[in-house]
Parts: sequence; C-alpha cells; structure tokens
Amino acid sequence: MAELPSFLSAKDVGSFAYLTIKDRTPQILTRAIDTLHRHKNEFFENHGEEGVEAEKKAISLLSKLRNELQTDKPIVPLVEDCADTDLWNRHLEYQRSLLSESDGQPSWFRSPWLFAECYMYRRLHEAIIQSPPINDFDVFKESKDQNFFESQESVIALCTHLQELIRTIEDLDENQLKNEFFKLLQISLWGNKCDLSLSGGESSSQKTDIVNSVDDLKRFILVNDMEHLWSLLSKRKKTRKEVSRVYIILDNSGFELVTDLVLADFLLSSKLATEIHFHGKTIPWFVSDTTVRDFNWVITQMKHCNHKWVSRCGVGWENYVRVGRWVYHDHIFWTLPHEYSAMLQVAPDLYAELQKACLILFKGDLNYRKLTGDRKWDFTVPFHQALRGFHPAPLCSIRTLKAEIQVGLQPGQGEQLTASEPNWLTTGKYGIFQFDGPLRC
Ligand code: F6P
Ligand code: MG
Repeated sequence: MAELPSFLSAKDVGSFAYLTIKDRTPQILTRAIDTLHRHKNEFFENHGEEGVEAEKKAISLLSKLRNELQTDKPIVPLVEDCADTDLWNRHLEYQRSLLSESDGQPSWFRSPWLFAECYMYRRLHEAIIQSPPINDFDVFKESKDQNFFESQESVIALCTHLQELIRTIEDLDENQLKNEFFKLLQISLWGNKCDLSLSGGESSSQKTDIVNSVDDLKRFILVNDMEHLWSLLSKRKKTRKEVSRVYIILDNSGFELVTDLVLADFLLSSKLATEIHFHGKTIPWFVSDTTVRDFNWVITQMKHCNHKWVSRCGVGWENYVRVGRWVYHDHIFWTLPHEYSAMLQVAPDLYAELQKACLILFKGDLNYRKLTGDRKWDFTVPFHQALRGFHPAPLCSIRTLKAEIQVGLQPGQGEQLTASEPNWLTTGKYGIFQFDGPLRC
C-alpha cells in the first residue's frame, strides 16, 4: 500500500500551521487571559474572594500554557480527570510512539498541527475547570455573542428571506425549490467565513448583503457537488420515506449558526428532510464553535428580537426543538484530536448514530481537516480516498478554505491557483461543497 502523506505541522517553517502556532494561538491565549481579567468584578460579585482567587489561578495556568507553547516545550499529559482525559493521554502516548529517540518528545512545533492546536484548546479548558468556582466560564462566549449582534442586519435579511420563502413554498415548482435550496446552501457556506479563530478572536461578523451576493461568489466555489445533495434528498422525498434525517455537524456560533438553522428550517419546510440532528461541542472550542449554550442562546435571542421575522424564526425553531424535529447532540469525540477515520474505533456509538443519517453536512474548516486527516495530500487525490474508510452515510463538507489542505481538485487546478494567488488555501475566500457517498440512502 502506498505510504500516507505526512501531517501538516508547525515544524514546516513559514507554513500556515507554523504561523498559527507561532502567532495566532498565543494571541488567543492572551485574549482569554484578558477576558478573565475583565470579568474579575463579576467573579467577585458571584463568588466573593474565592472567585477572585479562581480568576488568578486560571490566569496563571493560562500564562504557563502560553509559555510552554512559545518555548516549544514537550506536550504533557492532561491531569484533571474528565470523561475524555484517558483518550487524550493515550493519544499523546501514540504521538510519542511515532517519534524515534533522536526526535525527542512531541512538542508544540514538532507535533502534527491538528494535535497541537486541539490540545491547546483542551488545555485551556483544563485551566478553567481547575479553577472552581469559575470552572463553568466560557472565555469565548463574549466574542461569539458579539459576532451575532454585529451581524444583525444580515440576520434580519436572512430571516425575512426565509419567512417569505416559507409562505410561498407550496407554490414553488421543482426547479424553484432547487434554486432556493442552492441559495441557502451557499449562504451557509459563506457563513463559514465568520470564524473567530482565524482572526485571533477579533470580530469577524457578517456585514455584506449575503442573500444577494451568492451569485457573485459562485466563482469562488472550487468543488461544487450541490447537485448531488439535491438529487439525494429530492429522490428520497419522492419515495415518501417516513423518516429522512439530515445531520449537521455544526461549526461556529453567531452568524454562521444562523445560516445553518435557516438551512435546517428550509429542509423541513420543503419536506426534503423530516428531522434535523445537530452536533455541537461539549467544551469551548476553536474560539467560535457552537456549544449547547450558544445554540440555545441564539434561538432565545432571536425569539425575543423586536424584528417580526427574526422573532418568528426564533419561535418556530424553539418549537422544532420542543417537538423533537430538531435534535441537538454533543459527544466528546468532536473535541478530541483524532481524525474521523478513527471514529469507528474511538467512538463506535457516535459512528453508529451517524449511520442513521440520510445525509451528513460537515460545516467548516476544522471538520474538513479531520475528515481528511490534516495530511499533505496531492490536490487531485479523490475525497473518498482521503476519508480513509470514514463512510457512515452520504456526507458533504461545506467549508471555506482556511488551512493548507484540499483534495479532489481537477488536474492543474491547484497549481494554477497557487501561481495566481499564493494564499488561496488559507484566506477563506474560496469554498467547497464536497460530497462522498452513494446517491441513495
Ligand atoms: O486557527 C486557524 C484555524 O485553525 C483554521 O485553520 C481552522 O481550521 C480554523 O481555525 C477553524 O475554522 P472553522 O471554524 O471553519 O472550522
Ligand atoms: Mg470553528
């Protein structure tokens, strides 16, 4: 069997992985420290002196972590006993086993980037849980909420569009329905530009008129398998199967989450699906990723918004959750450093759950990195091959490119882009709908 390509890693000086570990991650830690500091009074009001002591402890743990990272220290085992601690420490052992004696220990810059970056967020979480009574504090909550508020205009435009669409949905012919499906898919794709880890946690909200810009942005879609998604779901609708579950593996909260919920609403309203299952994160992750708190918070904010159509969406979505047509799940696997080809072994219960899907939509860049193992694949390697056995159900990655990895391109396509735009892989300007699976489910 041909040897697998190596992992992206910060040891490649000048690479995007290198720059992320060198610049962006310390910046994220500094912002987390600053956030804790700014909440000092709140901690005091809620917990008295104990709260202030906890804030100091969390800050000192985070400063230590930042120092370990910046001085490229060996990666150390997690110490706090949690449901995932063992899996993390075993994975660290595995990383150690990959190195020869002369390589030394896995360290921040010498490890695979995916492992080091995930570990940074897990250690950040450890610092917080080791600091009771503020052990429930989400250092990224403020910036996620801010992203939502700053995107208000786009949220209003999108909700108005959706409500109008729902009002006339029964009158649409097949072609019109398909066009609307494609439009909402693309809005959900470009919503993925609003990730906060790329900007080091700084505001990255949606300010342009997204509903009307999708046509202009189409030329930036490098792999476009939207037709497959339509064919799969519309065929299934025609066969009137009782349950058609679409799973959305969520990425960022704020505006991107709203775009995903709008798409989810459309899938039910158009009867292309009968149930939507969302998967979020159990801990704060990659700055802006959605936790259950964020999921509920966004829906509640929308419900109480004084704009009629936004509020209508919020009320309807809360109801979908209540009656079980929208189901929210989380699982520790989503915040492990493992690639998805390891899911069957590491989290067989999750794999079995995903097998119930008729289609799985994986939102965002990090999901793509985990789907493809964060390896230096040639651009033309088929997506199916890069998934390395991960085929729980038909699936599609919906992602703007923010890491030096892309498979399934036409011969020459990647090279041509590199020649004209050296940073095309990492700016979020380009996007993909990349499908894998049989066209029946
Ligand atoms: O820190 C940058 C980065 O690691 C990207 O390269 C990455 O994959 C991204 O964060 C998170 O993006 P997304 O929110 O789309 O998964
Ligand atoms: Mg994210």
